[in-house]
Amino acid sequence: MFKAPKCIIFDLDGVLTETSKQHFQAWSKLAQKLGIDLKPEFEEHLKGVSRKESLERILTFGGVTLSEEEKEVLMAEKNTHYQTLIKQFTKDNLFENVEDLLNYIKSKGVLLALGSASKNAPSLLRSLGIKKYFDYIVDPRGKASKPSPDIFLDAMKHFKLSADQCIGIEDARAGVIAIKDAQMVAIGIGTKENLPEADIHFAETKQLLPYLKQRL
Ligand code: BG6
Ligand code: MG
Repeated sequence: MFKAPKCIIFDLDGVLTETSKQHFQAWSKLAQKLGIDLKPEFEEHLKGVSRKESLERILTFGGVTLSEEEKEVLMAEKNTHYQTLIKQFTKDNLFENVEDLLNYIKSKGVLLALGSASKNAPSLLRSLGIKKYFDYIVDPRGKASKPSPDIFLDAMKHFKLSADQCIGIEDARAGVIAIKDAQMVAIGIGTKENLPEADIHFAETKQLLPYLKQRL
């Protein structure tokens, strides 16, 4: 199943660092204002999907209808809160091994792309001190939210590669489905139960380095 790739496309949130608690905290506060009580289980439904799609899922869950203008205001509010929650992020917030992992991949001449749905990704990469490793960062603006394959296909087209030359790494089910829809091999950070569509599973990102050392 695993063939040495020319490009590895990483998701950011939940793969290189943990931000889903912060995203969820910001959404929960906003939901409360709307009279919607988000249970902890809802966090999983928001992983990997765009800001707009996250809000739509919350509104549908709460049975609340809003105008597009009202949605824009709420999304901006959520984002301001989220940004304050990640303001102190540094290298220390990287998952174990991440810098060694990126260094190793680069040393093997494999291209690195970031395929995150987050518009905060470039600034977060800077805070984490790892922006320099990426040959390309997909701009999610104007692209369909995961589980659409748009973000992964954009990275592939940027490098003029074919799907079988790329591997995607994701922690969210929406992201894994997007990778598979793009016809790429999908590595899931999580369990087979949570990410049934992934080809290969690891419980944690730190397990990727020893695995790739035997294959690249
Ligand atoms: C994804 C997160 O990486 O980015 C989602 O998993 C988030 O939870 C999405 O909604 C969009 O992020 P942002 O920073 O553009 O609101
Ligand atoms: Mg993720």
